[in-house]
Amino acid sequence: MIPIKTKEEIAKLRKSAQLLVKAFRAVESALGPGVTTEMLDRIAEDTIRSSHGEPAFKGYKGYPKTICSSIESQVVHGIPGERVLKEGEIVSIDIGVKLEGYYSDAAKTYGIGLLSSDRTLLMKTTCQALHEGIHQCIEGNHLSDISHAIQDCVEKKGFSVVRALVGHGIGKALHEEPQIPNFGPPRTGPRLCAGMVFAIEPMINMGSPEVSFLDDGWTVETVDGCPSAHFEHTVLITKGEPEVFTLGIEENGDYWSKNGERTSH
Ligand code: MF3
Ligand code: CO
Repeated sequence: MIPIKTKEEIAKLRKSAQLLVKAFRAVESALGPGVTTEMLDRIAEDTIRSSHGEPAFKGYKGYPKTICSSIESQVVHGIPGERVLKEGEIVSIDIGVKLEGYYSDAAKTYGIGLLSSDRTLLMKTTCQALHEGIHQCIEGNHLSDISHAIQDCVEKKGFSVVRALVGHGIGKALHEEPQIPNFGPPRTGPRLCAGMVFAIEPMINMGSPEVSFLDDGWTVETVDGCPSAHFEHTVLITKGEPEVFTLGIEENGDYWSKNGERTSH
């Protein structure tokens, strides 16, 4: 069963997402060439804890950090450490917050300095695909309408959808029913109802969709070594337009990179 949230739960989820947006802002203000992913992790954790939240990922199945930072050919679940971000790279930052018992989850891919045009297009397309999926978050639609819209958007641009990982329901747990693949035929699976909350998260590769899992137990990488991008929002289905709880992470979203090429989406 896909949980339906009450008004009270929705209010808590909204609050959790607001703290998550605050954590993204703090990370963004430090992001740039020369910064280590460990530094970003510390900033995110301090921001979340100083507002009485908890990092949702830290300790989840033994995950050691607050954020996932996945650089270039890393798809998701990269563990922060001493690696220094360099001009021309793209990095996905994924953060989860638990506040008053309720989880929010979001991710955004950033460019460091000037980017190649194919990386910029990969990021723009992944963000666009997420929004095409969100556009299908309408009561009465089928779950796979989200999946199909994402796949369609991505493949039109010649990029590929990672199959091995999926989006998910979210609320009192980080991962709830249903699983939300980023590919598939339209009009299958359960019908969407007001009160469902989903973390939709396309992971999109520039080259082949194949991924491998590193022996650190977490990091997912492209097999061909080509770059990958990842965007994620926590989204509420309503009787009308969906409410994107984490939309605030896009507030600086007209600028894909802090110091370099500026490309609007
Ligand atoms: N957004 C990711 C997910 O939903 C991040 C999880 S990282 C983990 O799976 F450490 F918590 F697994
Ligand atoms: Co997620």
